[in-house]
Amino acid sequence: MNNTLELLHLAAASAHNAYAPYSRFAVGAAILSSNGNFYSGCNVENISYPVGTCAEAGAISAMINGGDKTISEILIYAESSTLITPCGACRQRIAEFSQPNTLVHLANPDGIIQSLTIKELLPHSFKEF
Ligand code: THU
Repeated sequence: MNNTLELLHLAAASAHNAYAPYSRFAVGAAILSSNGNFYSGCNVENISYPVGTCAEAGAISAMINGGDKTISEILIYAESSTLITPCGACRQRIAEFSQPNTLVHLANPDGIIQSLTIKELLPHSFKEF
């Protein structure tokens, strides 16, 4: 299986495990790290709505816990005909562990619909102070 297909399968499986009883919008995210390892996560909502976390946050947490620090590619999956793009906070989360040209794949059950760089999604990101 090629890397992109593996990312798609992992993110779809994560979306299946999502805990999204409030929005009923399940999201999965999968990362290929620069060391060649795969990580994934899903959104986890909470009855106190702002406490919920996005799928990207879960996947990044898994990557850090696995000892990797650099995202080579990330794929975000939802069973939605409307293309879902990472929220603003998740763009910043992804940028922290990416290079400007790191690819962010946007996918649904039809497959990858669009691939953008993190720089396209978050130009002029806050990186240094
Ligand atoms: N969500 C994600 O997990 N990732 C995104 O990039 C956008 C939104 C989640 C948050 C919430 O649980 C649900 O989707 C609806 O907003």
